[in-house]
This record gives sequence, structure tokens and C-alpha cells, in this order.
Amino acid sequence: MSLIASFLVFLRWRLTTNSFCSVHTQHWRMLELLWKPSAGAEPAFTSVSTSQSAYVSFLIFPSTITHYNSTGSAMSIAANRISFTFNLTGPSFAIDSACSSSLVALHVACQAIKQGDCDMALCGGVNCIIEPRVFVALSKAKMISADGTSKPFSRTADGYGRGEGCGVVLLKLLKKVTKRSTVNQDGHCATPITKPSMDQQKELLRQIYSDSDIANVQYIEAHGTGTPVGDLTEMRSISNAIAKNRSSDSETLLIGSVKGNIGHTESAAGVAGLIKVLLMMKHETIVPSVFSSENSTSIDIKSLHLNSPVKVQRWETNVLQGRMAGINSFGFGGTNAHVILRECWH
Ligand SMILES: *[C@@H]1O[C@H](CO)[C@@H](O)[C@H](O)[C@H]1NC(C)=O
Ligand SMILES: *[C@@H]1O[C@H](CO)[C@@H](O)[C@H](O)[C@H]1NC(C)=O
Ligand SMILES: *[C@@H]1O[C@H](CO)[C@@H](O)[C@H](O)[C@H]1NC(C)=O
Ligand SMILES: *[C@@H]1O[C@H](CO)[C@@H](O)[C@H](O)[C@H]1NC(C)=O
Repeated sequence: MSLIASFLVFLRWRLTTNSFCSVHTQHWRMLELLWKPSAGAEPAFTSVSTSQSAYVSFLIFPSTITHYNSTGSAMSIAANRISFTFNLTGPSFAIDSACSSSLVALHVACQAIKQGDCDMALCGGVNCIIEPRVFVALSKAKMISADGTSKPFSRTADGYGRGEGCGVVLLKLLKKVTKRSTVNQDGHCATPITKPSMDQQKELLRQIYSDSDIANVQYIEAHGTGTPVGDLTEMRSISNAIAKNRSSDSETLLIGSVKGNIGHTESAAGVAGLIKVLLMMKHETIVPSVFSSENSTSIDIKSLHLNSPVKVQRWETNVLQGRMAGINSFGFGGTNAHVILRECWH
């Protein structure tokens, strides 16, 4: 039986026909994705952290609402139904910090493993564009691009392009790897609530980067959504906290953003950046950001001691540290997250 067919049979068995119909598209996407890596594995996955945006309205016609509508669309159920479907008995919850949700989920999942709440964790994010009202609100806030594309670091950047997607990673502790993550908040350092704070972004990086990390990090996967204010603030904070804070003989710090390729997947953006960096490490290659060219940069990135590559290049390994990268993710309510990834050798 093909994987997808067995998946459907399995779900039909688990969900009655009615609740099957009510399962929110985003929950469905998560289950669909998880079915593949988990099939045939021992049921040892003991923790689930997910994030999703719960943009669902129930205020339509009360007579059309059944008792399955609540479990079909509650945000908490995105994580809990995965635990139910795969009989996972460790901590299981959804996290909402807007666009930083999935990187914050990664931070929480790593901590849960470190403190022994579980041995492994499934962690990810999903974003489906369902609600037209969100689009209208974001347009009126001038946050999204007129042509629907994110053009990170580009002079033509005019807001972000919304993207849909789902990404999940399985985490487990390898003694040899050091992976660190941190989260902070803008508080009232910038007004209005959606404006990013450069000071708090710098503070986030200072919290997590040791002197040796500053000297050795090679690449930063930026939040880089393609909003002129957001990109500039982020580039300056990375420049101040890392690029300008290392000796002049260090390699230039490379930056990129996957959002030009797939759009800004909002609650799934952090995990999209993580998967991109993991793939680049695997292929020992650094890829350029779409829309990034020498002539199109909005920001004088040379003066910031940064470089946004315009060609595919080999990712050279750092002999002592292995390949090393950071991932930035910011929520529009001011919750910032950063993860440092270092390649491990077997
Ligand atoms: C509630 O779920 C039913 C299917 O069980 C669906 O037909 C209906 O549209 C849902 N109602 C709302 C308001 O989402
Ligand atoms: C779920 O897992 C528990 C503990 O790991 C086990 O005792 C139980 O039989 C499992 N239930 C199902 C339906 O697989
Ligand atoms: C990096 O910044 C810290 C604190 O701001 C400072 O003490 C240190 O000297 C800086 N290092 C370099 C190489 O500029
Ligand atoms: C960048 O600008 C220079 C000088 O204006 C031009 O010669 C070159 O072709 C441009 N490069 C690209 C990639 O557009």
C-alpha cells in the first residue's frame, strides 16, 4: 500500500467522518507531513511543539457549527492531534509568537530535551493562507508587498510576500553537537508594537554569541522579509553585534534569506530558515538570495561588514569549529528568537 493511501486509511480509522471534515487545513498539513518520517519508527517520539496561525472565524451561521468544529480548528489541537495520532505522551503544545513561532518552538523543544522532559521532539510550523481579513489588515498596515514577493535586502523591497508551507524537524540530543538558542522581547523599546527594536535585536545576539562564536560564525540566515525598515534594522543589529565586533582578518559574514524563494511563511518562517541552513550544510554550499544582486542592494552592506552572496559558492569548513551559522526570527509583536547551529562530526 502506498504511503499516502495507508495514511488516509489510518486517519479514517482515527477520525470519524465528521471530525475528519472539520480538521483544519493546517492540522491536516502537519499530520500529512509527519506521517512519512514517523512511519515504521518506534513510538519513541515523546514531545511535540508546533506553531500555527489560528485565523479562523466561527461567527458565520451558528446552525452550521458542530461539536467537531472546536477540535477541528483550535490552535492547541495542531500539536495535540499529532500526539493523539502517533500516541506521543511527552509535552505537547502550540506556541504563538507570530512570525517567530517556529523558532521559539525550537528553543522550547531543545530545552525540554535538555532538562529531560523527553528524549526526542518533533517541532515545526505550518502556515496556510485561509482568512482574507488577515490580508486586508496587513495591506492596510503596509506590511505586504504590492506584487506579492519578498525582496530581501533589495532596493525594490516594498513589504513581504505571504507564503504557505509546513516544516517539521525531529530533534534529539547528540553529545558532540552544541546547539544554542535564545528568545527575548522588544518590550516598549520601539513604538508601535510592530516596529522592530534594533537595541533588543543586538541584545539577543549578545546574549547568545560568545567571543569565539563571534569570531567563527560564517553565515546568518536573516529574518529578512523584504520590508525596508525591518531589513535595515536587522542588518545593523547583526553588523554591530557580530560583523563589526570581530577582528578585521576574519572572513566577511555572509547573510541570506529564504523569503525571496518561498515568501514569508509567517508561523512556519523559523523552521523554513532552519531547514535551508541544514540543507546548505549538507551540500556544503551557500546559495544566494533571490533578488539579491550587487546593484540592487538597498543597504550599503559593505560598510556594515556584511556580504549577501550573488553566486552559489562552496561553504568552506572552519577546521576547529565545523560549519557554523545563526538563524534569526522576529515576531510582529516583538518576540525575537535566535539559534546557533554548528555542524557535528561522527
Ligand atoms: C463545522 O464543521 C462542519 C463539518 O463537520 C462544516 O461543514 C462546517 O462548515 C463547519 N462550520 C464552521 C462554521 O466552520
Ligand atoms: C500508547 O502508549 C502507551 C505508553 O507508551 C501504551 O501503554 C499504550 O498501549 C499505547 N496505546 C496505543 C493505542 O497504542
Ligand atoms: C565586542 O564587543 C564587546 C562588548 O561590546 C567588546 O568588549 C569587545 O571588545 C568587542 N570585540 C571586538 C573584537 O571588537
Ligand atoms: C551593475 O551595474 C554596472 C554599472 O552600472 C553594470 O555594468 C553591471 O552590468 C550591473 N550588473 C548587474 C548584475 O546588473
